[in-house]
Amino acid sequence: MTTENSCQHVAIIMDGNGRWAKKRGMPRTYGHKKGAENVVKITRSMKESGIKFLTLYAFSTENWQRSKDEVDALMQLLNEYLDKELKEIMENNVRIRFIGERYMLSPSIQEKMLHLEKESAENTDLTLCIALSYGSRQEILAATQKIAQKVASGKMDVSQITQEAFSNELYTRDIPDPDILIRTSGEQRISNYLLWQLAYTELFFTDTLWPDFDKNELCDIIQSFNKRERRYGKN
Ligand code: IPE
Ligand code: IPE
Ligand code: MG
Repeated sequence: MTTENSCQHVAIIMDGNGRWAKKRGMPRTYGHKKGAENVVKITRSMKESGIKFLTLYAFSTENWQRSKDEVDALMQLLNEYLDKELKEIMENNVRIRFIGERYMLSPSIQEKMLHLEKESAENTDLTLCIALSYGSRQEILAATQKIAQKVASGKMDVSQITQEAFSNELYTRDIPDPDILIRTSGEQRISNYLLWQLAYTELFFTDTLWPDFDKNELCDIIQSFNKRERRYGKN
């Protein structure tokens, strides 16, 4: 990289697993399996590129509406990921965090998520934040309810509802806003992802389907980010 890297947080909407599989005449779940493998590869690449925070959209609140078979297959993959990744996460000094409506997930998955978070809490190279059963409007509403309760109970004054106070009620409270958002697969929408946090994020859309997204493309994006002029949103 020729220019200095000023990107510390990359957020990704990992889209296109189903189409990737379809192109190969395979079931959608095969695409999800390859997509999960790519999560491991891209996490390593982020660390190598000096990125400090990576936030991945793995499953949205809206994704619960997919067929039962597909949801079951995705939960199965998640289970396997949680079982297998502790070693990789510890070896790479990665701190893992989950954001989203965890109560929607099975108790055994929730337990594994907590375990990974606890074990990796002191790791310092990269924070990997995985959005699971995540919806940004729901997150914003939950934050609003918490603030309203504080005001109603007299713990907080209306004048104290600042951007900072609001951010502190979000799942991402101690994570800086993303510098870069990447969405793969050619779709150009936000799909209920980090609506508050993306206020000044630079957006990148690529036609590459998620299982094919690689380190070369990531480095190109970081390089072009470093050439963009940013007035606000610098961390
Ligand atoms: C992204 O791939 C993974 C999830 C949303 C879980 P898709 O499953 O959305 O794949 P396409 O968009 O149908 O190709
Ligand atoms: C967004 O992808 C969610 C994830 C990548 C997890 P979708 O493929 O579900 O997006 P929409 O709902 O079609 O916009
Ligand atoms: Mg999709």
